[in-house]
Amino acid sequence: MTMRSSATTYGNVAVTIHWLSAILIVALLGSGFRSGQAVDTADKAQFLVIHVPLAVAVLALTAARIVWWWHFDDKPMSVGGDPAWQIRIAGAVHVLLYILIIGMGASGIGMMVLSGAGDILFADGTGPLPDFADYFPRVPHGLGARAMVVLLAVHAVAALYHHFVKRDALLRRMWYGSS
Ligand code: HEM
Repeated sequence: MTMRSSATTYGNVAVTIHWLSAILIVALLGSGFRSGQAVDTADKAQFLVIHVPLAVAVLALTAARIVWWWHFDDKPMSVGGDPAWQIRIAGAVHVLLYILIIGMGASGIGMMVLSGAGDILFADGTGPLPDFADYFPRVPHGLGARAMVVLLAVHAVAALYHHFVKRDALLRRMWYGSS
């Protein structure tokens, strides 16, 4: 398998970005919801010192993914045999996932900048954390997180449906050496 995708399978750069992003996003949802539920600010800080660097990594990977598809690679052909409405929903879910990742990144950075929590978490490490609910970006960040859980579930269920019910190569080709 090469760095670039072919007409029938994803290349190893696309596969690496996809699965690395998937793992990091699951970790982000876990650390984000745990922080949101934590009452004690020391507990909250423990989750956020993991959450924020992971989020920066996901944003960097997303930027790399956009540049990669834009300039260096082309998607494989559709596996075929899907009704038009499924193809449209799949396309919409993919675009919405990009929009949500960027929106979550922007609202997360907004919360950190407006509240000054970045210094407390990463620079001096002292003082209580602010109440993020006092800052407007906390609202879209929380809503976006829930929308992302729904979209990721649709995305994963669709992939499993192709693999186990339709038994086509859709999921298999998003792995190394699948050509
Ligand atoms: C890029 C994708 C991101 C995802 C998927 C994500 C996910 C989450 C989730 C699931 C929550 C909990 C929401 C809730 O309980 O209502 C959360 C909260 C939070 N996230 Fe993110 N996040 C992302 C990016 C960021 C970034 C870039 C930052 C900061 C630079 C950030 C900082 C925060 C903060 C401060 C909270 C509030 C925690 C609290 O209220 O205790 N997030 N995030």
